[in-house]
Amino acid sequence: MMGLLGAHLRLARASGHVLATVAALATVSAATGAAAQSAGQWKSPEQMYGSVCGYCHDTRVGPVIQGRQLSEDIIVSVVTKGLRQMPAFRPTDFSNQELMALAKWLKDSPPPAKPAEVKR
Ligand code: HEC
Repeated sequence: MMGLLGAHLRLARASGHVLATVAALATVSAATGAAAQSAGQWKSPEQMYGSVCGYCHDTRVGPVIQGRQLSEDIIVSVVTKGLRQMPAFRPTDFSNQELMALAKWLKDSPPPAKPAEVKR
């Protein structure tokens, strides 16, 4: 299970959010536990977002991406190719079908209920 988040922890260190990210990682690990997933095993887009994307995008390590009607093409492209400080995910992390479902869910998602808090 450290494969997916481990790669991102290395990225987050490089981005200067070491403390916030280490704390977030501990929370994510505790919350997801043995439920860490790989391609073909995700239950829902909500689970993917909550276990993976929210780790940075709900904590201001990355920008808010819910409720912005971001296009599905852009979401798929960023996740598969990366964007500047955001690393690309691997084909073993999400199946194409799961990624399409996540992109559609995110595009249609409402904005977060309240602004994400910065934990320092
Ligand atoms: C390790 C932290 C991290 C994780 C995990 C992460 N992202 Fe990101 N993401 C970022 C950062 C940082 C940026 C901003 C990149 C930049 O502009 O330099 C970003 C940018 C984006 C953007 C572009 C937003 C914009 O305003 O243009 C999208 C779309 C995106 N991420 C989707 C996702 C999705 C979907 C997931 C889950 C599968 C995810 N990200 C997981 C850190 C992360």
